Amino acid sequence: MDQFVIKGQKKLSGDLTVSGSKNATLPLLAASLLCKGKTILRNVPDLKDIHTMLNVIKGLGVEYSYNKGLLEINTQHLTTFNAPYELVKTMRASIYVLGPLLAREGKAEVSLPGGCAIGPRPVNLHIETMEKLGAKIKVEDGFIKARANKLKGTQIFFSTVSVGATANLLMAAALAEGETIIKNAALEPEIGELITFLNSMGADIKGINTDTLTITGVNKLNPIDYTVVPDRIEAGTLLIAGIITKSPITIKNINPEHISALLKVVEEMGVILSITGNNIQIKKVGKLSPVYIKTIPYPGFPTDLHPILATLLTTVPGISVINETIFENRFAYIPELIRMGAQIEVDDHIVIIKGTKSLIGADVMASDLRGGAALTLAGLAANKETIVHRIYHIDRGYENLETKLGKAGANIKRIKGQNI
Ligand code: UD1
Repeated sequence: MDQFVIKGQKKLSGDLTVSGSKNATLPLLAASLLCKGKTILRNVPDLKDIHTMLNVIKGLGVEYSYNKGLLEINTQHLTTFNAPYELVKTMRASIYVLGPLLAREGKAEVSLPGGCAIGPRPVNLHIETMEKLGAKIKVEDGFIKARANKLKGTQIFFSTVSVGATANLLMAAALAEGETIIKNAALEPEIGELITFLNSMGADIKGINTDTLTITGVNKLNPIDYTVVPDRIEAGTLLIAGIITKSPITIKNINPEHISALLKVVEEMGVILSITGNNIQIKKVGKLSPVYIKTIPYPGFPTDLHPILATLLTTVPGISVINETIFENRFAYIPELIRMGAQIEVDDHIVIIKGTKSLIGADVMASDLRGGAALTLAGLAANKETIVHRIYHIDRGYENLETKLGKAGANIKRIKGQNI
């Protein structure tokens, strides 16, 4: 397993350019199943999760080629409607094929996603919404087995805001008969991207960027050429890399509105930013103040940036608090940061951080994607050497993280194939 070896306390400088969004690309790959022909996606990040999803759709009969961000997908023929455990277990977002397969083929068998390091993450909403569209669903032998003659429009109120269930429903309803109304839909930019993508394919979805969506089903969708939006979570991670090392870097190629909750927090803490167009420049990181944060669905503070902000807060004198309201187990990074001298406690889902002057390099282990990125940032700030083990978690969602940070002046190296 690869490791990052980081010699910390190096200043960063220059520009860091954000890659295409992982979480926006994943539903688009599934949505391409809704049409027959060649979909082209540009700015697709070269990430493990993207290749996992490509393997899922390849298993269904799709052909594709991928070269430096340019993805061509041919969805003319599907040969099966089964997404097997071997692929789904490694990435929960594989469940995105449920809606498109049901809409296109009238049948889908998708393995139940396994447990996940950041909590149980149920799929009940995905199943219930397909049932409301008229599908008959059985959960047996570890699979969601779904059948439908023709999906029919319906009204759905989500009791919990879910990005994944909103996306699955949008895809299925796009080809259903009649009108579907979704209330309390997720507002995340990745949902806006999916709606824009589907509408460009010929779908009729109204209410983009609001929590009430009206989908009038159409008979057919057409393949398109589409460029993926930049990754807001990567942008936030790179920005905090700059703040934690007190470096005047510029994050390029990000829609600042997509991370406005983070920008507000760091500005409240005392960071001076200059935001122009799609660039965010750190002008000054002076004495920072602690903060109280609650993770909530978009446009609130994103749960994915919780471990990353927490790492910064370990270096800010005073008591900061993060109330994690989305995922009940996003805390595996905490014992690792404690190994680096951080003072953090977690009580139920409330993280209490007592900022210390500096972190101390240590061997630490990534146990999930964002937690792994957080430990990498801790390594950039710490004195001495930090070794982050199990960085395959980080590779799931960050494209060339060590290359980007290294070019900006960080002393970070990937050591290949070291077992712990
Ligand atoms: C997506 C993101 C993930 C992000 C999360 C919240 C992708 C691939 N992943 O995950 O990075 O952290 O949104 O912004 O885009 N829930 C249920 N039943 C369900 C589905 C979800 O109870 O059937 C609950 C979850 O346990 C969680 C909440 O709903 O508490 C939100 O989860 P959801 O928005 O669905 O997250 P994902 O789409 O899995």
